[in-house]
Amino acid sequence: MITIGVYDSGIGGISILNVLREYVLEKLPDQQVRYVYLCDNLHYPYGTKRSEDLVSFVCETVRKMLDLYKLDILVIACNTASTVVLPYLRNMFKLPIVGVVPAIKPACARSKTKHVCLIATQATITRASLEELIQLYGNGCQILRIGSSLLVDIAERKFRSYPVDDSLIEQEIKPIFSDPLIDTVILGCTHFVHLKGEITRILSKHPCKDIRVIDSSEGVSAHCLDLIKKIVVPKHSCDNSKDECGSSIKESDFYIYNQDHKDNIFVFTKKDDMSMKLISSHLDNKCCVSFLK
Ligand code: DGL
Repeated sequence: MITIGVYDSGIGGISILNVLREYVLEKLPDQQVRYVYLCDNLHYPYGTKRSEDLVSFVCETVRKMLDLYKLDILVIACNTASTVVLPYLRNMFKLPIVGVVPAIKPACARSKTKHVCLIATQATITRASLEELIQLYGNGCQILRIGSSLLVDIAERKFRSYPVDDSLIEQEIKPIFSDPLIDTVILGCTHFVHLKGEITRILSKHPCKDIRVIDSSEGVSAHCLDLIKKIVVPKHSCDNSKDECGSSIKESDFYIYNQDHKDNIFVFTKKDDMSMKLISSHLDNKCCVSFLK
């Protein structure tokens, strides 16, 4: 059994978790994996926070997560955090840490017109590490950057079953329409993957008929798969909450959402019933939920 932690400020990282689960199931069907999803809705949203504050509370929250769970791999399923916090985390903790950064490399390799658009949080589009990524993998492309925190909120609201107003999204991504040559759009925030259907529908009105919307889920999953293959794990399986998995989880730490259907997914979130139930239902009720204090 190996344990993978997936971390985001809210529900964005569930887009990564779901692709990762499917990927591992398909490529390594015999590998037992337990997932711990950390939804840091205590500090949400990240996109409007100062870098120094992000570094401080993300490192602290990861420490709490590692106190409770013995993770083999940690995925920071948040572009906003990854683009600033990764070096600090890697310095503080010994386990392999996978970050999520905007898919500049595949997007710029794919673009025929060399006109690309990145939609991310305001924090991500202004980071020095983004410029480094573009220097390395920009492939001579012109990259239009759109920063939005409203889209993060819309994704959270959609998750809570509020209706989504396409015109609000269209308003946010309107600058794309001023460049008819854009043929590749990068969703550089894991929350936006939950709005991929709406964004693709809006982009069908764009003059470029071959426009494609891409994100980082596949790349991150492939990276995790390589790491899983390198981890030497004991052959025996074990129960989710037993010490033999090296975790300090006690049943009392948990709100067992649906004991009958728990399936190796633990969720670590703020103690509010709404978040717990919602996240659980988006994971097909296959999870246990514990509290972030
Ligand atoms: N999901 C996060 C990302 O990928 C950020 C959302 C937020 O602002 O909290 O950037």
